[in-house]
Amino acid sequence: MTEDEIDARHAFGSALIAEAGALALDYFRRVGELTVSSKGPQDVVSEADVEVERMIRGRIAAAFPGDAFLGEESGRTDFVPGQGIWVVDPIDGTQPFVSGMSSWCVSIAFVADGRVRLGYVVAPARDELFVGRVGHGATLNGRPIAVKRVASVTEGIVAAGYSLRLPPEAFLPAFTRLLEAGGVFYRDGSGALALAYVAAGRLIGYAEAQINAWDCLGSLALIEAAGGVSNDFLAGDGLWTGGPLVTASPELYPSLAALWQG
Ligand code: IPD
Ligand code: CA
Ligand code: CA
Repeated sequence: MTEDEIDARHAFGSALIAEAGALALDYFRRVGELTVSSKGPQDVVSEADVEVERMIRGRIAAAFPGDAFLGEESGRTDFVPGQGIWVVDPIDGTQPFVSGMSSWCVSIAFVADGRVRLGYVVAPARDELFVGRVGHGATLNGRPIAVKRVASVTEGIVAAGYSLRLPPEAFLPAFTRLLEAGGVFYRDGSGALALAYVAAGRLIGYAEAQINAWDCLGSLALIEAAGGVSNDFLAGDGLWTGGPLVTASPELYPSLAALWQG
């Protein structure tokens, strides 16, 4: 895909995330009236999730009908190798959202030629918009951001992701090693937002044994654009099945990855 084609998508994505954030915030303001159903233990979906994704998917189909789509709530279109694909989580942090907390966001990523190129994360209840284009930097509310260039887990806070998709035994040994190494942890119910905080240098890293593409790709574009590094999440089947994720500054990444993987 050419730079001009990515330029066109970047202009579109920047407007789309603002519209999606405004729509999600409108639902959040009347969260007590929303229909909420359970998809499984600790996994809820509200009408806001469904409607925000419907809006985003429709806008993309109208503007770039040749692009593919993957969303948490409505699934994927057909995909042929070489096609660009938009990866969307309409609300990441649905549990905090339905509980009236501010730690939720909308995440949109654009992937082309096997690499994430563009990322947008908006946290409307915190009035924060993160935008990144790999190779061109990342911003928070229009101001440049960068990952924090520390080399030890003792120099800041690491986000530790966990979901019931895996048993506690898949998490606890790594968590213990983090604490034994002098690290401390952060978790607020939105993986995507915590990852955006890594891009902004607020958190020094993020690790999770199994995460979905829609939870992380928007923020991984931010992190790469802001000078951070990650394991190759899109290697193999990561886009479709998810996988493990470790991300941090280039200086911290080797030790965080070693610590997390044991
Ligand atoms: C979840 C959140 C949570 C993470 C889970 C995700 P959802 O997404 O990102 O922080 O631990 O793995 O599934 O369900 O709120 O979109
Ligand atoms: Ca999610
Ligand atoms: Ca979601």
